[in-house]
Amino acid sequence: MPENEKKLIIDILMKYGVNKKDAETTANIYVEADLKGFTSHGIGRFPQTIIGLEVGNIKPNPKIKVIKESPATGTIDGGMGLGYVIGEKAMNMAIEKAKNVGIGAVATVNANHFGITGHYSEMALNEDLIGMAITNTEPAMAPFGGIKKILGTNPIAIAIKGKKHKYSLDMATASIARGKIYEALRIGKEIPEGCAVDKDGNITTNPKKALEGSILPFGGPKGYGLALAVEIISAIGGAQMGTNVKGTANPKDKCTKGDFFMAIDPEFFGDKNEFMEKVDNLIEEIKNSDPAEGFNILIPGEIEKMNIEKNKNGIEIDDKLYYKLKDICDKNGMAIEDYF
Ligand SMILES: NC(=O)c1ccc[n+]([C@@H]2O[C@H](COP(=O)([O-])OP(=O)(O)OC[C@H]3O[C@@H](n4cnc5c(N)ncnc54)[C@H](O)[C@@H]3O)[C@@H](O)[C@H]2O)c1
Repeated sequence: MPENEKKLIIDILMKYGVNKKDAETTANIYVEADLKGFTSHGIGRFPQTIIGLEVGNIKPNPKIKVIKESPATGTIDGGMGLGYVIGEKAMNMAIEKAKNVGIGAVATVNANHFGITGHYSEMALNEDLIGMAITNTEPAMAPFGGIKKILGTNPIAIAIKGKKHKYSLDMATASIARGKIYEALRIGKEIPEGCAVDKDGNITTNPKKALEGSILPFGGPKGYGLALAVEIISAIGGAQMGTNVKGTANPKDKCTKGDFFMAIDPEFFGDKNEFMEKVDNLIEEIKNSDPAEGFNILIPGEIEKMNIEKNKNGIEIDDKLYYKLKDICDKNGMAIEDYF
């Protein structure tokens, strides 16, 4: 059950000194990832957070500070805390600014991995604002035409609301999220054809070889171009870029990536009601248009919405993950059986 997953994560985090509120914030985002079908960023990734806490790279009670601020902008120093908590703080700050002056943009530095990017863009959507979130990650992807990993998987999330419908895009600019390759390695699966090359630049479906090699950008040079923009803009608050970004995939390195969150209130640009109606009309026009043979036309975010319904009673986890979680519980005097 999702409640059990949430409770397990909260109880473990609190054993590591995280306060209840921050543990709840973090657990909610892990559970949201699993329910949406982004299992690469769900509880399967939680053991990495525990390593980060154990080695001291993630601080359970960080001093989170606003280090730069204007009416529309801000930069938060996350004090090396949990990225989920810092991400929510930064997006809340962007939302408040957007409500006051039409647009709010907040960067972070000294923040750890924050999970699914779409959680943060949807925070703005839930306030009838347009939300955007990006982050850079430690190198996973070679530039288009290259073989050396320099860029991260660099996700982009954009969320827009009409009155009835919503659009919520949440995607890595790499053709596959690195978390999905780790997941394939853990459960002994191949990765899809055409997503990654081995260390010599040959296409591979083997997750181990893909991790040694490089993930390819989605959409060739265009995905590469976008990934490069995400790499750079995410670092605007003072974080690192390129091969200087560390610690997002390997929790034993101090995390040096950056995030950038933006909220926009359409009311400050035009008539918000009209805008939201037009969004609905467009989404309906798309949904009512003829699909190509064998296709079902979807709006970004729809698959995740369907997954939430499908997974409402929780997701199954594989044996390897179960035993990893059991080890963490055993170490902390907890019984995993209490949660399954
Ligand atoms: N924090 C990080 O450092 C980091 C890095 C990389 C990825 N991630 C996260 O990993 C998760 C997975 O990313 P991904 O790129 O593998 O996602 P994905 O490929 O599963 O989905 C990407 C997007 O495509 C949309 N989509 C899929 N099929 C569609 C269709 N037929 N029609 C319309 N839209 C469709 C989905 O709704 C989603 O918005 C995301 O939550 C992302 O934020 C996080």
